[in-house]
Amino acid sequence: MNEFYNKDIISIKDYNKDQFEKIFDYTQKIMNLDPSSRREICKGKTLSYLFYEPSTRTRLSFESAMASIGGNSLGISDISSSSTQKGESLADTVKIMSIYSDILVLRHPLDGSSRFASEISTKPVINAGSGTEEHPTQAIQDLFTIKKEKKKIDGLKIGIIGDLKYGRTVYSLLSGLGNYDVNVHLISPESLRIRSDSIYEIRKKLSFTESTNLEDYIEDLDVIYVTRIQKERFPDEEEYLKVKGSYVIGLDLLKKMKDDAIILHPLPRLDEISNDIDKTKNAKYFQQAENGKHTRAALLGLILNENGF
Ligand code: NCD
Repeated sequence: MNEFYNKDIISIKDYNKDQFEKIFDYTQKIMNLDPSSRREICKGKTLSYLFYEPSTRTRLSFESAMASIGGNSLGISDISSSSTQKGESLADTVKIMSIYSDILVLRHPLDGSSRFASEISTKPVINAGSGTEEHPTQAIQDLFTIKKEKKKIDGLKIGIIGDLKYGRTVYSLLSGLGNYDVNVHLISPESLRIRSDSIYEIRKKLSFTESTNLEDYIEDLDVIYVTRIQKERFPDEEEYLKVKGSYVIGLDLLKKMKDDAIILHPLPRLDEISNDIDKTKNAKYFQQAENGKHTRAALLGLILNENGF
């Protein structure tokens, strides 16, 4: 039996390097398959999604991934048109969605929401973003992209830039990187430094520096992972305005980077990477978004097939 079969994906902390490598191999296998064989993988299976927060890529990449492996998707992306509006609880909504499908994908503003849903659901639950806590499938696509572009993860110097306080992708990525031998530089405005309580465990596995100055590190970095300032999570708009536009990756900064450095971003981007970077060979964020479809297809294929595919 494959070890991912019928399992939830709640936290990236539940995975080790071997498991990442296995997922990467299956992702590559999916990418190499011809479309008709690919469509056999989850033929007749249904994914349901329940998104209490906005999403473009995560939800659509799950739908597109499921379609590419022969399954179908149904769900709620606008909570205001669902019975949540009438006061239905998350627990009841999850229970119903798990009756109508084989796997449930949940995004919710509260930390712990996916763990809670997994205790209620009769079908596996995938965390597609829980509060400021985690976004595990994003981290899998980020790690896959680094490996694919740089041919390795061990030995790299990785800068993570922007909103390290509220950006949940950062916490999942750091936990994932804890399985590799990498040097991490965290760069953020002082008020958006990483939450020390949330990285207590990660600290034991990963060495990193913290700074407010990107220019101190830019020349050394192999991977520049840029994040959006998470405006919606600020308790006070004044505080957001103080840090808005803190770091902007433009052609001037690109000149200082290693020639083969790659620039990643979980997207959506606002002004933190200028549009003229898009056409450079260093820009890999759209590739990263595309990889998200394939890594998610691999995960769905593994969770829904006892013997893999
Ligand atoms: C991220 C998220 O929702 O945490 N988006 C995504 O899934 N790619 C990042 C963000 O919103 O800034």
